[in-house]
Amino acid sequence: MNGEDRFEDLEKIRERLEFFRDLGVEFLIISGEPARKQEEMKKDNPLLISPGLNQSQEADVQAEWDRLIRKILTCQACPLYRGRTQAVPGEGNRQARLMFVGEAPGRDEDLQGRPFVGRAGQLLTKIIQAMGFSREEVYIANVIKCRPPENRTPKPDEVKACSPFLLRQIELVKPKVIVALGKVAVDFLLPGARSMSEVRGKFGQFQGIPVMPTFHPSYLVRNEGNKEIKRMVWEDMKKVLQLLKP
Ligand code: URA
Repeated sequence: MNGEDRFEDLEKIRERLEFFRDLGVEFLIISGEPARKQEEMKKDNPLLISPGLNQSQEADVQAEWDRLIRKILTCQACPLYRGRTQAVPGEGNRQARLMFVGEAPGRDEDLQGRPFVGRAGQLLTKIIQAMGFSREEVYIANVIKCRPPENRTPKPDEVKACSPFLLRQIELVKPKVIVALGKVAVDFLLPGARSMSEVRGKFGQFQGIPVMPTFHPSYLVRNEGNKEIKRMVWEDMKKVLQLLKP
């Protein structure tokens, strides 16, 4: 690694630590443990507890996921398919105890076929890391799987047409907690909510699963200098962590 690369890495670390500080993160767990110890520690990770399926059940679940992803990638149930580069099904640990639900793919997501990889996605990744997890340990999906033109808010008909996909994802993942990112996800999971300020930070329920409504990461991007908003999101995530404790 040359001096320039090292400088870039240090810059990235500085930026991440500054974000954690703005969130109000009180402490960080720095793991300098050897790889074997880390493997052992994973066994205790509350996000990675296997539901204990036998081999044939696992094969069935895998086949079900394959079918679902194929359906999403080839869906033409609403006009959004005409403008997509590719659909964005979602990604992460399919047995995750923590699931994040956003609104719809933006430009970067449409190009890469992965959720939350643009600027808002980078913020979401930092929030997940501040919680002590990696993106691979949680499941990340959107209400809508194809990018709306100019990133406009999805129309009710589009949400309706796409809804079987997210419903099935939730059924398959069976998360212990869902974080609803922004109003579109909140409206889907907690219908009847009037405004974000009314529901944010208070657990609701979706089919018996606790749902924490919080601000969408794009809102944080748009209000980058506003530490109060970041702190509110972190307060919400602390409640989620509390609920995930084994
Ligand atoms: N915004 C979302 O709601 N979802 C994404 O995947 C990216 C941006």
